[in-house]
Amino acid sequence: MKILVTGAAGMLAAEVVPMLLARGHEVVQTDINQRIPDIEALEVRDKAKVLEKIKKEKPDYVFHLAAETDVDLCEKDPDHAYIVNTLGTENIVVACKEFSSKLLYISTGAVFDGKKGIYDEFDNVNPVNIYGRSKLEGEKIVQDMLTEYFIIRAGWMVGGWDLDKKFVYKIVQQLKQGKKELVAVDDKKGTPTFTKDFSANLMNVINSGRFGLYHMANKGTCSRYDMALKIVEYMDLAGVVTVKPVSSAYFPLPAPRSSSEAIRNYKLDMLGLNNMPNWETSLAGYIKLNKDK
Ligand SMILES: NC(=O)c1ccc[n+]([C@@H]2O[C@H](COP(=O)([O-])OP(=O)(O)OC[C@H]3O[C@@H](n4cnc5c(N)ncnc54)[C@H](OP(=O)(O)O)[C@@H]3O)[C@@H](O)[C@H]2O)c1
Repeated sequence: MKILVTGAAGMLAAEVVPMLLARGHEVVQTDINQRIPDIEALEVRDKAKVLEKIKKEKPDYVFHLAAETDVDLCEKDPDHAYIVNTLGTENIVVACKEFSSKLLYISTGAVFDGKKGIYDEFDNVNPVNIYGRSKLEGEKIVQDMLTEYFIIRAGWMVGGWDLDKKFVYKIVQQLKQGKKELVAVDDKKGTPTFTKDFSANLMNVINSGRFGLYHMANKGTCSRYDMALKIVEYMDLAGVVTVKPVSSAYFPLPAPRSSSEAIRNYKLDMLGLNNMPNWETSLAGYIKLNKDK
């Protein structure tokens, strides 16, 4: 297949693009960030450029991974969040419709308010921050305008080691700097989603041809505190480094976070397509592979 990837310089694409190339797909990599020469410039906010590019390439699929993923920046600048995550997605959707490309849109467990605890695909959405809202509005546009699409919601993404702007690499950096006492929030739950596992299972879902909305995260749920404890253990620093649980009030941040963004892969379970490993197994493997870098 010919697949055009947006957000090709990002953390998830760093696993997805090599996986697609290894399987013999033709990949057109695009992003605003051209950190490697193979990536072509494509600003998803620019409707004319998006239409022009998709008209020229006529991909079988667009894997739309580009997004503003900085949750606090989204809260501080809602216009920016909606322009990139919602209207940018609309530009991609319009182009897919016009030029008959199928679409994969990656969404997030941040569409849920946390009150239920763990969410499946049939649960009601109610995002508590602008990032979640802007991604949810993107979902609605995909569902309203297309029939041949996959929307896949992921959890707390982990991957790419130093490309990871999120929690795991931040903790690793502190450990590498020799910190002996860490603090981590224990009142918010989520579902780690390793980009390697997500990537490995992605084409099973796409090739099923069973379009629709799915959750795809690793098995099990945890808090940041639970994750920090495991990172310390797998970095062979248990007993040397302590982790103190704190409430989220300890780290005042611009964007509210729901008490739980934890998702379960209910539809993949029912279809026999849930090959996602337990998060602890994947974290152990990820740290073992990367820790001496
Ligand atoms: N990270 C998570 O925990 C998480 C969880 C669930 C779902 N997701 C979703 O998964 C997808 C991939 O996320 P990720 O973690 O790989 O994010 P990422 O590392 O931030 O990658 C996103 C890429 O999109 C680029 N981008 C931003 N604005 C753009 C624009 N206007 N036009 C074109 N490219 C643009 C970014 O460039 P810059 O870096 O220069 O901004 C970055 O290279 C996103 O749709 C995200 O919403 C992420």
